[in-house]
Amino acid sequence: PVGLFGEQRKNSMGVNLGNDNELKTLADAIAASPQTWAAKPLIPGANLTSASVAVTDPADRRRNVGSWQPADAAAVDKAVANAVAAQPGWDRTPAAGRAKILEHTADLLEANRGELIALCVREAGKTIPDAIAEVREAVDFCRYYAAQARKMLGQVETLPGPTGESNQLFLNGRGVFVAISPWNFPLAIFMGQVVAALVAGNAVIAKPAEQTNLIAYRATQLLQEAGVPAAVLQFVPGDGATVGAALCKDPRIAGVVFTGSTETARAINRSLAARDAAIAVLIAETGGQNALIADSSSLPEQVVKDAVSSAFYSAGQRCSCARILFVQEDIADKVIAMLGGAMDELTVGEPRLLSTDIGPVIDEDARQILVEHAARMDKEAKLIKAVTLGAEAEHGTFFAPRAYEIASLDQLKREVFGPVLHVLRWKASELDKVIAQINATGYGLTLGVHSRIDSTIEQISRSVKVGNCYVNRNQIGAVVGVQPFGGEGLSGTGPKAGGPHYLARFVTERTLTINT
Ligand code: SER
Repeated sequence: PVGLFGEQRKNSMGVNLGNDNELKTLADAIAASPQTWAAKPLIPGANLTSASVAVTDPADRRRNVGSWQPADAAAVDKAVANAVAAQPGWDRTPAAGRAKILEHTADLLEANRGELIALCVREAGKTIPDAIAEVREAVDFCRYYAAQARKMLGQVETLPGPTGESNQLFLNGRGVFVAISPWNFPLAIFMGQVVAALVAGNAVIAKPAEQTNLIAYRATQLLQEAGVPAAVLQFVPGDGATVGAALCKDPRIAGVVFTGSTETARAINRSLAARDAAIAVLIAETGGQNALIADSSSLPEQVVKDAVSSAFYSAGQRCSCARILFVQEDIADKVIAMLGGAMDELTVGEPRLLSTDIGPVIDEDARQILVEHAARMDKEAKLIKAVTLGAEAEHGTFFAPRAYEIASLDQLKREVFGPVLHVLRWKASELDKVIAQINATGYGLTLGVHSRIDSTIEQISRSVKVGNCYVNRNQIGAVVGVQPFGGEGLSGTGPKAGGPHYLARFVTERTLTINT
């Protein structure tokens, strides 16, 4: 089938959990996958001496998941030197050949789906449906950027010019890209960043979030198995303050693709700008203070269903998650009562069980921030509902969903990355004020709108400055090639991941004029 952007490509089918055969195949593949993993830097020629770091399961910190070895300063330096040496040759290989490697990677991801799902559950605490979606999205990024590369980079563009002159436009890789990927989509966003940079002709140094190095290591192995040369894609694990900072200071780096907090994006930007080197590109996808606006014409049942899935599923650890529900006064009491009831139905706990809706948060630091936020909200806001945790959660880093009614948006200073929803009432005369308040946060990632009035939908969707606006549905789970994803303002630089303009930022344009 022809996709929305005209490409001949199908998104991955994932796994149908309603089908017993598919479920059994998945269960067998998970059971057959390793119980622990060991990751080390993948840097040809580096002498690795640093001690390994243990990895435990966020759902139960007594469970060992494996270990990873950080890259030291000499290994980081060696990785950059390797990448600089390897990039020109990679850039000269035809784009169609690079695209083929991405397609091969997609096939390998699908062939290793059971192990990758097991890893996402054990290392990142993902629920099984979220882990399935994670692998699917990673596959989709590979196939989508391969299709885009064939279309965009496949041929030299010949331009019109006067007689006696030939003009051509070439697109080349920029050089060495550093890919700094987050723990909340440890496979999908890792893969999206890395394959986009690679297919455009760049060498890539992958520095994933410390919390999810094992997943990134397996993904790097699969990319190399598919044909990416070892010096063209290197896995350089370590913490942001040392390895990440050293890479972003290095004058040999041509660009950074980053997903994470707005503060870190700013620090990377400052570091790149301070180098006595060529001006580097920063592609940053950062946080959000995402709102959902429901007016009195919306269906309370649907508002609640979409608010619950947008705010609490994935333990609220998506940058797209709804954080603030603006509900019009006429339906507010009903929506708030139904929200509390719907929250009572949520099962929080062991992500290995299919019956679990919400698993743990990523680590103790993340949990602590949520505990502190809840303590402040308990004093300053009205608690609508706090879901209770079972005793079995005591060994993991769990935080159960909470919803509060707040009096003013000023009570929320910054993004709170977890399953906490804040509800604000508004009056019919206040829609402009609601829109102004959302824009005043400075973030611009996702917006949910629930309304049956076309003029209201149009007014809101045209005036709120966000990258992804969803009407009468949930506001999470952007699909590659269908909802290009990414925000503006404090939420990121663009271009949108999984969209037709993404690859353009990874290339440099060269014009060749020949007087014939
Ligand atoms: N792309 C994810 C979503 O749409 C968030 O990073 O939910």
